[in-house]
Amino acid sequence: MFCQFGYSSYLCILITNTIIYNNMKKFAFIIAACCLMLGACAQNSQNENQGKENNMGKTLIVYFSATGTTKAAAQKLAKEFNADLYEIVPEQAYTAADLDWRDKGSRSTLEMKDKSSRPAIKGRCENIDQYDTVWIGFPIWWYTAPTIVNTFIEAHDLSGKVLNVFATSGGSTVDGSYNDLKKAYPQYTWGDSRLMN
Ligand SMILES: Cc1cc2nc3c(=O)[nH]c(=O)nc-3n(C[C@H](O)[C@H](O)[C@H](O)COP(=O)(O)O)c2cc1C
Repeated sequence: MFCQFGYSSYLCILITNTIIYNNMKKFAFIIAACCLMLGACAQNSQNENQGKENNMGKTLIVYFSATGTTKAAAQKLAKEFNADLYEIVPEQAYTAADLDWRDKGSRSTLEMKDKSSRPAIKGRCENIDQYDTVWIGFPIWWYTAPTIVNTFIEAHDLSGKVLNVFATSGGSTVDGSYNDLKKAYPQYTWGDSRLMN
């Protein structure tokens, strides 16, 4: 009898332990699954926030580059902002002689002396409406933006966008060019400026 009682209580304890152990396993599994789900949700919301922080709407990088330096800077910016690129292409390409700033009669010197000059460009950016932020980049010529940049700006409606400026130079800062553009086109919203030497 005692033996029987002892055996059944042992069996009873064993079964209870097994049930508790199995339930604990289930419980642990449920807790682990919940943790994983919460982790995934937190990660998602973090990704969304990062996306919002970096994403100032759709971004376009517009640039003019006579000898390639600004083009390379534009490509870097496009990677940084996951942006599209648009090159301002002169109808008549600039030759080395055109770019000779020591020559008082060179094309670039003449264009930069005449602030109303608007060198012709090939085509226009047809889908500019879809962008919220536009970076405009150029090499600094005579401490400011080449007048071909004015040709581009005046050929497009840039209202409602944030316009940022970037430039490359032999040492001049971007501030003069930025302020000149801001002054020339006060109807637009001007944001950041960056020298990318
Ligand atoms: C006509 C001309 C004028 C320039 N004027 C300046 C200037 O005022 N300040 C400066 O730091 N660099 C000046 N530079 C140097 C260019 O800004 C620099 O080399 C630029 O990175 C060239 O860019 P790109 O290769 O995209 O054309 C001038 C270059 C040229 C051709």
